[in-house]
Amino acid sequence: MRRHIRGIGIDVVDVKRFARFLDRNHAWLYRIFSGHEIARCEAARNRVERYAVRFAAKESVVKALETISMFDFLDKYSWADIEVQVDDLGKPQVVLHGVLRERVRADGIDGVEVSLSHSATIAMAQVILVGTELRKPRECGDVHR
Ligand SMILES: CC(C)(COP(=O)(O)OP(=O)(O)OC[C@H]1O[C@@H](n2cnc3c(N)ncnc32)[C@H](O)[C@@H]1OP(=O)(O)O)[C@@H](O)C(=O)NCCC(=O)NCCS
Repeated sequence: MRRHIRGIGIDVVDVKRFARFLDRNHAWLYRIFSGHEIARCEAARNRVERYAVRFAAKESVVKALETISMFDFLDKYSWADIEVQVDDLGKPQVVLHGVLRERVRADGIDGVEVSLSHSATIAMAQVILVGTELRKPRECGDVHR
């Protein structure tokens, strides 16, 4: 079956700013990241870079999803429901969980492609959502105000 691009998202996180955020809001670590993500990040020398790039991936997914906004993560959904897992080669993949997963599936989206990159100062992620259903294309000049 043909698969179509259903959305794209990109996000950049300032690593030093994110380090300050984590220092001041330690409890948030467990609200934003899954146990799997925490284990992967804590095992690394550059742990904050890795947390930052995973947060960039989560924000990229939300940007790519047209029907969900950042505010929905205050009550409806959990940031930990957007999880970055890595395979044996270190290649990342995004796995969705819970109500968010159901919502995204109901919108006809069945896959998330992701790419991550980070340095001591910048962490960035890009995602592409894919699905079997074709989205109605936006027409030129169809700008929402
Ligand atoms: C992947 C690779 C290019 C990373 O480049 P880098 O400039 O050192 O680091 P970047 O900050 O740009 O990217 C790091 C991120 O790339 C991702 N990554 C790692 N291996 C990857 C792979 N094989 N494919 C795609 N992405 C990968 C990870 O998410 C990593 O972040 P994390 O360690 O926090 O999970 C480098 O590690 C590499 O060459 N690895 C070997 C490639 C490989 O295994 N290829 C297999 C095919 S034969």
